[in-house]
Amino acid sequence: MVLEKPIGHDLASSCEINDEVGCFFHEDQIYRIDHYLGKETVQNLLALRFGNILFESVWSSAVIDYVQITAAETVGLGARAGYYDSSGALRDMVQNHLLQLLCLVAMEAPYKMTADAVRDEKLKVLNSLRPIEDPSSQVIWGQYKEGAIEGESVPAYATELGKPSRTETFVALKANIDNWRWAGVPFYLRTGKRLNRRHSEIVIGFREIPHSAFPDEAGAIASNRLVIRLQPDEGVGLRLMTKDPGPGGMRLRTAPLDLTFAEEFNVRYPDSYERLLLDVVRGSSTLFMRRDEVEAAWRWVGPVIDYWENATVEPKGYTAGSWGPTAAATLIDRDGHSWHEDMT
Ligand code: BG6
Repeated sequence: MVLEKPIGHDLASSCEINDEVGCFFHEDQIYRIDHYLGKETVQNLLALRFGNILFESVWSSAVIDYVQITAAETVGLGARAGYYDSSGALRDMVQNHLLQLLCLVAMEAPYKMTADAVRDEKLKVLNSLRPIEDPSSQVIWGQYKEGAIEGESVPAYATELGKPSRTETFVALKANIDNWRWAGVPFYLRTGKRLNRRHSEIVIGFREIPHSAFPDEAGAIASNRLVIRLQPDEGVGLRLMTKDPGPGGMRLRTAPLDLTFAEEFNVRYPDSYERLLLDVVRGSSTLFMRRDEVEAAWRWVGPVIDYWENATVEPKGYTAGSWGPTAAATLIDRDGHSWHEDMT
């Protein structure tokens, strides 16, 4: 039994579907698809984290300052008005894809890459997410207005829909994971339609060096950043400080250490559904969501969705082709950070 998201529209309806399906199939016969888990670059996160000793010692609040997870799209509502307007970005992208990415960044190493070992670790992360206490300040809801994408004018969401709506086509939020590894490290999640470009990435921002031994003329020292590009231009980049070459003394500048998959591996990437459906045929459920994961994710986003559904404020408008409402920049700026595209 293969189930495609959305699995319910809240915790209660999700439990109802799972109960019903559970009457006829065992949990190990049920494959709940989150197609982000079928993306090569997402699976590569597991390889990067658990196939290299290098990262483990720096993978915690002692060295990591913040994490950003962005899934930006240029497409708009398209032909999905019926579904999308009753869903919105929180249900459509955050409850599943973005939280799954957060789990892969934050989880402990599984003892084995088996379905339950991996899913047990992801579940622990979901259960450690701190409930969002104040959605009005920790979450930004946006809706696109008319604008232009790649030189082409596009209409506002309400125009495409043909009626006014409070559904969010953009959401940015700050999440916290209450466990030893991640205490104090904000996870900023952001997704939206009709944004500047199609672009999904994870940015791991490291702390500043504790003391600079270089003279002032060396210039400012920027913190290291690990950028995992999920799509397009799949790859991994690490921003490092290096010496500016030449006889001009000790001046520092940043330079990337870059692994671009298309250059390194000359193979065709299977489409994520192709990969996942093959796994179903093979009976491998590692890349599928277990019932308790789906329900834990609903448990966490549910109160945020309830807050929004009972609020009377409108979503913040943003021009199609921008990076979303300015409030999304303020959300992260308050903590002294900025979104990756705004960094030098
Ligand atoms: C789907 C959402 O799950 O993911 C869509 O329902 C979204 O709204 C899509 O466009 C994004 O997937 P991808 O693979 O294009 O990033």
